[in-house]
Amino acid sequence: MTTIALDHLHMHYGTGAQVVRALDDVSLAAGGGEFLAVVGRSGSGKTTLLDCAGVLLRPTAGRVLLDDVDTATLTDSRRADLRARRIGFIFQAFHLLPALSAMENILLPLRYSGGDRRAARIRAEALLEEVGLTGRAHHRPSELSGGEQQRIAIARALINEPSVVLGDEPMGEVDTETAATLLQLLRRINRERGVTVVLVTHDLEMAQRTDRIVRLRDGRLVADELTGGPRGGDDPARGPVPWAGVPDGG
Ligand SMILES: Nc1ncnc2c1ncn2[C@@H]1O[C@H](COP(=O)(O)OP(=O)(O)OP(=O)(O)O)[C@@H](O)[C@H]1O
Ligand SMILES: [Mg+2]
Repeated sequence: MTTIALDHLHMHYGTGAQVVRALDDVSLAAGGGEFLAVVGRSGSGKTTLLDCAGVLLRPTAGRVLLDDVDTATLTDSRRADLRARRIGFIFQAFHLLPALSAMENILLPLRYSGGDRRAARIRAEALLEEVGLTGRAHHRPSELSGGEQQRIAIARALINEPSVVLGDEPMGEVDTETAATLLQLLRRINRERGVTVVLVTHDLEMAQRTDRIVRLRDGRLVADELTGGPRGGDDPARGPVPWAGVPDGG
């Protein structure tokens, strides 16, 4: 199944001679639990692409289909609803709310969706365990390391059981080793849950460990290549739980 499809997307800012073509006729389809990296120089349109794919931005032209639903025809509130149910976001600066505990941050996306609170809590506890942070449920973000905060942000992105997780340089503010650990975590989630992951990164080594690399240049998609092997370069049998043996703070 196609989880996400971008169909001749254009995103233009400004007018006349000043127009910036942040996206210039970009088409891309991903699904079936693929793990994609989006690479390209600063200003090449990566964030714009991700924000369009995440239904945060309406493109100037072209269509974004999510689980085969054409989002262009939806009202803003239906788009917000779709976003809340189908998409998990992970940002570079984590965007955790400082006054809330780790657990409350994970539950945040459910605040407006109602539903069974108790079931949600059980799911959040399972996610805490999945990201290796059982026992940190009541910590505030300021009481967690950068890598731990990002693991909480990853758990938060999964609380709605989305079909796609979008990350805009989510490893940008942690050290290389922590970044590798987070990538392994995302990879595992991708494999075990069949969630499609789209990861913007400037780190080519990291990109090589995904299934597929999409390259943007000046708003245009200039390359779209598999990284080798049917499911990319990473080996699922590589080893134990990624954070096992990673000291606190990692
Ligand atoms: N709101 C906006 N108004 C006008 N121009 C914008 C706006 N947002 C982005 N742009 C322009 O669109 C282009 C693409 O920006 P975008 O943020 O998508 O790049 P990026 O690849 O994510 O860069 P970086 O690696 O620095 O994050 C840039 O030239 C940028 O200046
Ligand atoms: Mg960006």
